[in-house]
Amino acid sequence: MAGTGLFAEILDGEHVYKYYADGEWKKSTSGKTVAIINPTTRKTQYKVQACSQEEVNKVMDLAKTAQKLWAKTPLWKRAELLHKAAAILKEHKAPIAECLVKEIAKPAKDSVTEVVRSGDLVSYTAEEGVRILGEGKFLVSDSFPGNERTKYCLTSKIPLGVVLAIPPFNYPVNLAVSKIAPALIAGNSIVLKPPTQGAVSCLHMVHCFHLAGFPKGLINCVTGKGSEIGDFLTMHPGVNCISFTGGDTGIAISKKAGMIPLQMELGGKDACIVLEDADLDLVAANIIKGGFSYSGQRCTAVKVVLVMESVADSLVEKVKAKVAKLTVGPPEDDCDITPVVSESSANYIEGLVKDAKEKGATFCQEYKREGNLIWPLLLDNVRPDMRIAWEEPFGPVLPVLRINSVEEGIHHCNASNFGLQGCIFTKDINKAMLISDAMETGTVQINSAPARGPDHFPFQGIKDSGIGSQGITNSINMMTKIGNILLETP
Ligand code: G3H
Repeated sequence: MAGTGLFAEILDGEHVYKYYADGEWKKSTSGKTVAIINPTTRKTQYKVQACSQEEVNKVMDLAKTAQKLWAKTPLWKRAELLHKAAAILKEHKAPIAECLVKEIAKPAKDSVTEVVRSGDLVSYTAEEGVRILGEGKFLVSDSFPGNERTKYCLTSKIPLGVVLAIPPFNYPVNLAVSKIAPALIAGNSIVLKPPTQGAVSCLHMVHCFHLAGFPKGLINCVTGKGSEIGDFLTMHPGVNCISFTGGDTGIAISKKAGMIPLQMELGGKDACIVLEDADLDLVAANIIKGGFSYSGQRCTAVKVVLVMESVADSLVEKVKAKVAKLTVGPPEDDCDITPVVSESSANYIEGLVKDAKEKGATFCQEYKREGNLIWPLLLDNVRPDMRIAWEEPFGPVLPVLRINSVEEGIHHCNASNFGLQGCIFTKDINKAMLISDAMETGTVQINSAPARGPDHFPFQGIKDSGIGSQGITNSINMMTKIGNILLETP
């Protein structure tokens, strides 16, 4: 159970969790806490420490000092500790998954999957790091005109320093370790700022790293209010790199951060273009998986279907039939559709639905909401003047726009301010390649719904969807810089 057994030391009283600094679990001197509301019950489930700016300053100093020693720790030892943390994480998947269910209403099975996937990601990163960080380059001067062979250059990848990791609520564990593991294997230290919803899952995950025996001060986790420590963290002079996943806060962070490498994965309005020759059963199955898993709260969710008019009726009927089979209810019951993360999120989704209603979209199901729980909704005959055609609901509401040409579909996709992923369904591979090439997104999937994984694949967005590429290898590279040693012979 969460907060018990091995995890008892991270708890301070009933349901109040400590923060982690200098290898210890601590109470904030602010004396304040932040409440975490269970999206299903809408009652306070947990509380976390409201860390102060002074505590952030201390953590930054600790991380800076610990990093210097860590960078000198042999690579194989760093990998060994990561493997150990991965094993502990997987062994304790149940209490961590329980937190995910309570904090972010992720269905029970998917919550377990997130923890296991995270353990695998940490192990893979350790292995990949050993390979790619164990190699460097050797250059000789006489390949450049005018030079004799008198200078030799040895290049290797060296750490950046302190990496600030800010994961989002929808994958608080997986998208935290996707930042922590590459940072650590590359010789960096970590300051983790979890999202409020998902903070307790993150704290449990951090405890697994603590139990693995990483040096004091190397990994730190501060919780608190964004208004108090958010900008303070992202603009802190002690930070050498920021890896952020979330909404458009990332754009604000990018504008304020100093001259440091940034890895930003922000929103998406992933388009699903369906041609006349597509296998409509395959499309319908992918629309359900892509649009409604975790109630649409994934940056890579299918967020707009652009279907050729001639097959639109048929596709809509198939999707409607599958929507009717989705189970709706609490995450504990492992329902397909569970409450969205917060009341404000549910209100935002409702605003998009009302706008579509007023402007004449066809409702394939009746709109239904109870608290934060919104029943899955397919909106047909959506037009570009409706907000839902462009904005991401981050909920179980999916718009269908009927198109009369492929060009119209590509135009809609590219007119979006987002550019994360997209997908195209057709049996004509040549057409698929041409359309993929024309779609302005980080990735295009052919005959499959958008998704980030497997976790070692490159993953990146363009435009307002982010900067910098992720995936295990890219993250290790991004969290290092080139260090040169030059030798000149007389
Ligand atoms: O929400 C953003 C995540 O990076 C999406 O990951 O495609 O594995 O659901 P996923």
